[in-house]
Amino acid sequence: MVKNISFLAITLFIVSDHVFAQQATSISPNLFGVFFEDISYAADGGLYAELIQNRSFEYNPGDKDAWTQNRANWNAFTAWNYTNKGYGYGNISIETLTPLNANNPHYLAITVEEPGTDGVGITNTGFDGIAVKKAQPYNFSTFVQSLSGNQLSFEIKLLGKNGDTLALDSFNVSANTWKKYTATLLPTSGDDSCSFSIVCKTKGKFAIDMVSLMPQHTFNNEANGLRADLAQAIAEIHPKFMRFPGGCLVHGDGLGNMYRWKNTVGPVEQRVEQKNIWNYHQTVGLGFYEYFRFCEDIGAKPLPIVSAGVSCQNSGGTWRTGGTGQRAIAMADMQQYVQDVLDLIEYANGDANTKWGSIRAAAGHPAPFNLQYIGVGNEDKQTDDFRQRFKIIFNAVKTHHPEITVVGTVGPFYKGEDYDLGWQFANALHIPAVDEHYYEKPDWFLSNQHRYDSYDRTKSKVYVGEYASQGNKLFNALAEAAYMTSLERNGDIVLMASYAPLLANNRHTSWSPNLIYFNNTVTVPTVNYYVQQMFSANEGDKYYTGAVYFDKKDSTLASSCVTDSKTGDLILKIVNVSAQGENATINLSSIKGYKDSASLIVLTGDKDAIDDFADPRTVTPATSAIAVHTHFSYKAPAYSLTVIRIKHINSGLK
Ligand code: AHR
Repeated sequence: MVKNISFLAITLFIVSDHVFAQQATSISPNLFGVFFEDISYAADGGLYAELIQNRSFEYNPGDKDAWTQNRANWNAFTAWNYTNKGYGYGNISIETLTPLNANNPHYLAITVEEPGTDGVGITNTGFDGIAVKKAQPYNFSTFVQSLSGNQLSFEIKLLGKNGDTLALDSFNVSANTWKKYTATLLPTSGDDSCSFSIVCKTKGKFAIDMVSLMPQHTFNNEANGLRADLAQAIAEIHPKFMRFPGGCLVHGDGLGNMYRWKNTVGPVEQRVEQKNIWNYHQTVGLGFYEYFRFCEDIGAKPLPIVSAGVSCQNSGGTWRTGGTGQRAIAMADMQQYVQDVLDLIEYANGDANTKWGSIRAAAGHPAPFNLQYIGVGNEDKQTDDFRQRFKIIFNAVKTHHPEITVVGTVGPFYKGEDYDLGWQFANALHIPAVDEHYYEKPDWFLSNQHRYDSYDRTKSKVYVGEYASQGNKLFNALAEAAYMTSLERNGDIVLMASYAPLLANNRHTSWSPNLIYFNNTVTVPTVNYYVQQMFSANEGDKYYTGAVYFDKKDSTLASSCVTDSKTGDLILKIVNVSAQGENATINLSSIKGYKDSASLIVLTGDKDAIDDFADPRTVTPATSAIAVHTHFSYKAPAYSLTVIRIKHINSGLK
């Protein structure tokens, strides 16, 4: 191959009767990222490493909507059982008289009249059991106060599913005010379904709150951290950005349920818990500090989304009757709301001596988080209420933080009234980017690969914030892959894209499909996951047209060619969503300076293949080497995504 890269060249030449026009366009270097929402137990009972369910006794019946099937009678005692095994007795109550703090109003009080041989206390069943590993340390902590004035002795235990004690420790409480107690438990054997018990072995009365058990080994060993295997699976996508905390969770089920970031930072026992819009409880132990920190740990740009001052139009279950539930923050309260948004930017980026920067620093992160984007709104119905409030927030951010790129929203669908009105509004306001969502069939993705080719390059850029092709079969994943090549081709106006949702606990799946499924011990990346990974890990910042040519033109065949200025690599992606191998001709004559060997990553299999708990590795990418030339051909296997990554001849030179 010839040296000397001329990126902006347009070259025309003829090979095998085909005319190749190779033209380089600058594309977004942050195209592929992840969408995190606490849906399907993605946070509590999922990515957040806490093992105790309902640790602060704040569950309540309102966490679940009346229209939810299998409505459980959730209350402050959910996931807890009263324990008095050794013929002890006493009584137990949920109290609110002297709470740990105003944000955490409920606590448990137990009077031990007779401790018996084993004490009187409570047992937690975790999220469908507590999984522990042999000899791994688990950090226990709790707040307790003696209400009877005497010293009380406590015993904590990890109990295996057959009742064996796997770990044991004890501590004494004499303080008659709330005090934190900690211990480390080392299980003598592993068990995927333990329970945790804490009992008092002295006569008396005590109050207890914030009973926590966390693995010491979390992702990057962060305190108040994330479940290591799940976080690692996300990290291995190599996402360029992470959107959080949702989704519909952001604008909430009515105004009172709107996600307020300030309620999610600071000491965990002082955070304000609330109902999750997906009908369970969110502790916000995984809050904005943890989201920012995780983004930093995995090298993803943070993309927090705040409500546009309106609640979800489906609030109160009104999605069944046409989505009339949107409620708006009163205009009189908008100034405070806007301040909250500006404070979020200060929390992320302000010096440690600013008000909110100092709160971040106090949490352990004096350096800024380098926030560059903020999303305002999610799939909102384009009402006057929405528009007025969005405009106020948008103008305030623009005025005070012109360095921040605001991402707006054009409703829940890829077309229709909200989409049209949303785009009109975005054009009028010159919103830098808007968020488009689509959950459609694989055929839609195949036949809409030219969607963005005709988008006006002078208007707002696009963030494809949520998309999925309604299935976890290889065919779905490949339809998404074909579509993703079109996002790369349009990477001059498509700023970012994220598959949604990211995580689902297989026993609490509120939405399907998802990118990664998990239970308490196992993480199962789907086939779609590998497609996301192959694109994210192989992004570029220059797109070349005309480098790959198929023998026939068909929406089941797609390709892209990008170069990555960070590594100098040239990356080809070739997608074949058809039932037979298809020949691709590759011509790199005007993209000069590349080596003649490359790595070849291929994801292929039966079109209906899935990776699931029964067989998590039915289809996974296989990596090998391939010889490449200025002109070469490649037979793309039936139902496959291929990535060919070619090093620049200067790579590795000092
Ligand atoms: O991704 C699941 C949900 O789909 C999101 O919360 C919402 O934005 C969309 O409707």
